[in-house]
Amino acid sequence: MSHADKEKWDRKYRQKPTLLQDRPASKLLQRYAKEASGSVAIDLACGNGRNTLFLAKEGFHVDAVDISEVALANLKEKVNGLDVQLIVCDLDDFIPEAGHYDLAVMTNYLDRALILRMAEALKSGALFIIETYMAHPENEKKDSNPDFLLAKEELLAMFDKRGYEVLAYEEFLNEPHELYRMYKEAIVVKKRYR
Ligand SMILES: C[S@@+](CC[C@H](N)C(=O)[O-])C[C@H]1O[C@@H](n2cnc3c(N)ncnc32)[C@H](O)[C@@H]1O
Repeated sequence: MSHADKEKWDRKYRQKPTLLQDRPASKLLQRYAKEASGSVAIDLACGNGRNTLFLAKEGFHVDAVDISEVALANLKEKVNGLDVQLIVCDLDDFIPEAGHYDLAVMTNYLDRALILRMAEALKSGALFIIETYMAHPENEKKDSNPDFLLAKEELLAMFDKRGYEVLAYEEFLNEPHELYRMYKEAIVVKKRYR
């Protein structure tokens, strides 16, 4: 586990507990979750669990994965009676179970290698929803690490000819409840049946 990442995020959540308040799930997730062909989901870097809680309330089993014990301790308080497995781990080293998931969601987090690894973990027909920050001259936060910003249409290029059907692609200004106004890129893809 990357100790630096864990320390950084635990500290951030302790110093700014408002980040762990209830927030609406990703709009694209809300729009597309019902199109999943089964009910096994994974929320990659779940943070405050907004997407986990939405999916679990819709009847999904959700593996909620994050490196921050502070975030997962907070989420544990909210998942009573819901079918959620909390997994503290470093996604850099995470090997998801092959052919296991009907839906995967990754929002406000970018790990390009993990996106590629998820291909094996998705069942045929599964949905993968990714939504995160992109490089844009009007981004309010000017010192973001460029490695964690998507290039324009990068998600489209990533899934092009990779055995997925693109159901939706959007670029938009993020939600006002976030710390900084930033441009985001989002995609919903469906793994093709073989
Ligand atoms: C900006 S938050 C996004 C939370 C949530 N997905 C959302 O959209 O509200 C990023 C999350 O990534 C987690 N994270 C950062 N590095 C990680 C890593 N290497 N492995 C697992 N989680 C990580 C942090 O703990 C944090 O909860």
